[in-house]
Amino acid sequence: MADEHGATLNADVRRRDLPEPARDLLSRVTLIIASNRGPVEFHREPDGSFSTRRGTGGVVTAISAVSRFTDAIWVAAAMTDGDRLRAELAAERGEAVIEPDNADFRVRFVVSDPEDYDRYYNHISNPLLWFLQHYLWDTPRQPDIDHITWDAWNNGYVTVNRQFAEEILAVADSSAQPPIVMLQDYHLYLVPGYLREARPDLILQHFVHIPWPDPDYWRLLPVEFRRAICHSMLANDIVGFQTPRHARSFVYTCEATLDDVDIDYRRREIRYRGHTTYVRSYPISIDVDAVRRVAASEDALRHEEHIKTFLNEHTILRVDRAEPSKNIVRGFQAYDRFLELHPEFLGRVNFLAFLVPSRLEVAEYVDYLDDINTIVGRINTKYANVAERDGVAWEPVRLFIGDDYPRALAAMKYYDVLLVNAIFDGMNLVAKEGALLNRRNGVLILSEGAGAYQQLSEHALSVSPADVESTAHAIYQALTMPPEQRAYHAQALRRLVIEQDILAWIYSQLEDLAATVGGSLVRA
Ligand code: G6P
Repeated sequence: MADEHGATLNADVRRRDLPEPARDLLSRVTLIIASNRGPVEFHREPDGSFSTRRGTGGVVTAISAVSRFTDAIWVAAAMTDGDRLRAELAAERGEAVIEPDNADFRVRFVVSDPEDYDRYYNHISNPLLWFLQHYLWDTPRQPDIDHITWDAWNNGYVTVNRQFAEEILAVADSSAQPPIVMLQDYHLYLVPGYLREARPDLILQHFVHIPWPDPDYWRLLPVEFRRAICHSMLANDIVGFQTPRHARSFVYTCEATLDDVDIDYRRREIRYRGHTTYVRSYPISIDVDAVRRVAASEDALRHEEHIKTFLNEHTILRVDRAEPSKNIVRGFQAYDRFLELHPEFLGRVNFLAFLVPSRLEVAEYVDYLDDINTIVGRINTKYANVAERDGVAWEPVRLFIGDDYPRALAAMKYYDVLLVNAIFDGMNLVAKEGALLNRRNGVLILSEGAGAYQQLSEHALSVSPADVESTAHAIYQALTMPPEQRAYHAQALRRLVIEQDILAWIYSQLEDLAATVGGSLVRA
C-alpha cells in the first residue's frame, strides 16, 4: 500500500512539470507505447534468475523520458532468448505485464515465431524499409523485390504487425481508462490499421524516427506494400516526423499512393475514408539531465581516464552505430584527404571512432563493418612511421568497437571536432549529446542530410554527405577556427540543446494529442 501511495505521489510531482492540457490528458488515459525494441532486454542467469539490460538505440533513449510523467505500458518484441523465457514465465504466472526491477516501464512482450520475426526484422524492416527511407540503394542493382521479399512481407511483416496489434488490444481492452497508443517507427506501419479496425475509438499516434523519402523513391516498393502502409498510417489520429520536410513527403506519398485522400496542406490534415489524420513534426532530442548523469557516472569517469591517453593536440571524434546510413567510410576518406592536403597536421591529430556493431544478420551491415576496417587499416598503414607522439608511433585513427554508452559520452567531452556526416538520418542524437557534453568548444561538422541540421546548422559547419573533398576542407576549417569563434558556436549549440530537450518533444506531442483528440476522449 505504502509503495502504491509513494508511486502515485511521485507521479503527481512529476506531472506538475507538464503543461496543463498534457497533465490533464495523462490523468485521464492509459498510455501504451509500442516499438520493436523495448526499454529492457532480459537475460537468463545460470542460477535461473533474470538480469536486465537497457535497450539500445535512439528510440529507447528518447521514449524512456516519458516515464517521468506517467506509468505507461510498453509493448515490445521479445528480441532475446531471455525476453522469450521471461514472457513464458509471465504467461505461466498469469502476469498481464512484466515489471522489470530497474526499469521505469511495465512491459508486455510480443513473442513471434523466430522465422516470422526474421522475415519481419531482417528482410523487411531493416534491409528494405530502412534502406528505402535513408535512400541507401544503388538503384540499378538494388533492391530486387523477389519471391523471398514477397514471402517476407506476407509471412513476416504482416504477421508480426498483426501480433503487435493483438498485444496492444489486449492491454487496451483491459484498461479502465481510455487508452492512447503511441506507436514508434517503421517496424510497425501496419499496426494502426489493425487497431482502428478492431477499436474505432482508440486514440492513435505514430512517430516515425527516420526520414520519409519522396513518393518517387517509394515507387521502388510494390504498390501493394505502399498502399498497405499509407492506408494503415492514415488510421492514426496524428502522424509525427522529425522535420517538416519529412512530414511533407509523407503527405505527398499518401497523395501519390491512395486515390481517395483529401488533403488540406495548410492545416496539414489528411481526410481518408471518413477519418482525419494530422501530420506534424516534432524534432526529437536528448534527456539533458539523464545524459549528464550518465556522463558523470563512475563508469564514464573511469573510461575518461583511459580515453585521455588517446587524445592528441587535435582530436576528431565520431560516435555511431556501424551503419551504412551514417557514412562512416566517407568520413575516413575525408580525413585521409585532409591529411594529404595538410601534412603539417601529421602526428598532431587523432581520429577516434566509437562504433557500435548493429544488425549483423543483414549482409550489408557485415560488409559495411568490413569496409570500415579496411579503410582504417589502409589509413593507419599509409601513415605508419611518418610521425611519433611521446616517443610512440603515431596512429591516425583509433577504432573503439562495442556498445558502451558511458564510454561514448566520456569521449564526447574531449573532441575538437565532432564529425556527423550521415547520408540521411532521422535526427542524429550524437550531435546533440556532443554539443551538451563537450568541454573544448569543439566544432560540429554536420551533414545536410541529418534531421538535426534544421535546428543546429547555424552553429555547425555544413557538409553535403557525398562530398568528400568539402568534408576534408571542413575538417581543416574546424581545426583552424579561431578560439573565440569556436566558443561562440559551441555555447550557442549547447543552449539550443538545453532549450529544446526531450521534454519539449514529449510536451508538444502530448499537447497536440490533448488538442486534437479532446473530442474523442469526451466521447469515450
Ligand atoms: C534507430 C531506429 C530505431 C532502432 C534503433 C536501433 O534509432 O529508429 O527504431 O531501435 O535505430 O536499431 P535496432 O535495429 O538495433 O533496434
